[in-house]
Amino acid sequence: MNRIQQYWYNQAIAEYTSSARTVELSHWMQRLSISPDLIRQAIRISDDEMVHAQMCYDIAAKLGCTQSLPLDKMQLTLAQEFEPLSKSMLLVLVQSYCFGETVAVPLFSAMRKSSSEEAVIKVFDRILDDEPRHAKFGWLSLAWCHENVTGVAQWLPEVVPVAIERMRKAYANHPPFDPQPSQSELDWGLFPRERYGEILEKTIATTYNQRLAHYGIKLN
Ligand SMILES: [Fe+2]
Ligand SMILES: [Fe+2]
Repeated sequence: MNRIQQYWYNQAIAEYTSSARTVELSHWMQRLSISPDLIRQAIRISDDEMVHAQMCYDIAAKLGCTQSLPLDKMQLTLAQEFEPLSKSMLLVLVQSYCFGETVAVPLFSAMRKSSSEEAVIKVFDRILDDEPRHAKFGWLSLAWCHENVTGVAQWLPEVVPVAIERMRKAYANHPPFDPQPSQSELDWGLFPRERYGEILEKTIATTYNQRLAHYGIKLN
């Protein structure tokens, strides 16, 4: 697979994974009797992510990729890292929705800006239509759970550093492409991945801190 095929193939994997995990999150939320409106939003998000996955895979296929998704190597289920389930749900909400979906907005905006192929812009536009709503879902769910779910207010200061450390690990220290992306690769959406860390740090310093200030939490 060449780099640009690989890029869209990886993106399809990420979106499909995100859909599967959101299906499970919806079920956790049902088991915990979270607000029905939020549960319905989560179900809608899993549908959006399937659309993103199909669109990304279509680009990879258009570029000649014929490989199917490596389902047995993908993280399609959520790990229940804490007892009770509500604490595990809090970690997933903070890490993947408050943090993950929030940083996705500037990240995909930057990707859209540096690409120019019409088919690719169409995918980025659809993703960018959805991601701000996904991020809003994260922050709204956090606020609701903070008010209504026993333990959440007490666990939040413990869960936030765990989530932020994982985000930094996933986004920082990506070596630049060697050789540098060609103009055609950039047009097709390949993105200088060494910029991921910088975009994350900027988002931590602005949006994450603005949102977390409400809970008396400050990230450095
Ligand atoms: Fe997505
Ligand atoms: Fe999303």
